[in-house]
Amino acid sequence: MATTSNLSFLLYLTLIATSLYFADSQSFIGVNYGQVADNLPPPDATANLLKSTSIGKVRLYGADPAIIKALANSGIGITIGAANGDIPSLASDQNSATQWVNSNVLPYYPASNITLITVGNEVMTSGDNGLISQLVPAIQNVQNALNSVSLGGNIKVSSVHSMAVLTQSDPPSSGSFDPNLKNTLKQLLEFQKENKAPFTINPYPFFAYQSDPRSETLAFCLFQPNSGRVDSGNGKLYTNMFDAQVDAVHSALSGMGFEDIEIVVAETGWPTRGDNNEVGPSVENAKSYNGNLITHLRSLVGTPLMPGKSIDTYIFALYDEDLKPGAGSERAFGLYKTDLSVAYDVGLDKSSQKVNKLKSLFFY
Ligand SMILES: *[C@@H]1O[C@H](CO)[C@@H](O)[C@H](O)[C@H]1NC(C)=O
Repeated sequence: MATTSNLSFLLYLTLIATSLYFADSQSFIGVNYGQVADNLPPPDATANLLKSTSIGKVRLYGADPAIIKALANSGIGITIGAANGDIPSLASDQNSATQWVNSNVLPYYPASNITLITVGNEVMTSGDNGLISQLVPAIQNVQNALNSVSLGGNIKVSSVHSMAVLTQSDPPSSGSFDPNLKNTLKQLLEFQKENKAPFTINPYPFFAYQSDPRSETLAFCLFQPNSGRVDSGNGKLYTNMFDAQVDAVHSALSGMGFEDIEIVVAETGWPTRGDNNEVGPSVENAKSYNGNLITHLRSLVGTPLMPGKSIDTYIFALYDEDLKPGAGSERAFGLYKTDLSVAYDVGLDKSSQKVNKLKSLFFY
């Protein structure tokens, strides 16, 4: 009897702790705010929408002052980005990096909670060797600029990579980086280790499914019941593609001696629509992927190689971006419509979580 009641008491505490936690914003759930669109809501409306959800951080591709200001005093973490085109001047001229920080960070911080600056997007896989060689110097100069105003410890500097920086990712234990990129990556990772900056990467199970469109692959990609995949290298069982991709990155980092660097998922998502020749886009699949991903993150179960912690993850994207070029799916990743209603419900709304909290207490 004593054991049962102890167990019940533990369960009760867990329920309360979990539900209180859920009622707040969750720093490990982020969203990408892409702005390649002509129909986006005003910045204040977007800020209010974000505040009504448990989304704890937002990533901007640039440093739009209107949205940065609108997020002031919200506590929401903000990632801002320096464009690939800014890299040559940031790398060659310390003043240029200082100017960048002076105009994009100092006017807003700390009221606006800027936590990360990403210098460049998918530069390592751009094929532009000139740009690749300037990446680390650019990051270093932005860091110097932050250090000189004593913000070096508060705001981290990183760069976002596509999964194509790995030439090997299956099974996850065999994950390794493109040998041609290793020299630059080594400099980058040494910098990141020293400055405790995260390695930011864009895993997309959606694209993995496109290259292997079988129904068991779809279930594996959508976190739905499936027989799983055993990693032949270490015997670990994978039940979803997200974990497999993130662990492949972990293995690649370990292979270079940098397993302690935090991995942050800068983008992942699933489109609701696409062209006729694209397999996988649908509201149902998008809702499964993002809804199950959020549940997975909230469970704090982690991945087979990094158990017990949630990977900070920015979902792509907040809204559809109607002016994005490329395949139809590129314009259809939004969690919300531009009239601020949900495109499909994935349980991010704070009030829906409070209902769940009451339910869980009631049913106890
Ligand atoms: C800023 O955002 C980060 C990441 O979401 C969070 O951990 C931190 O508590 C926030 N800071 C403030 C002052 O709200």
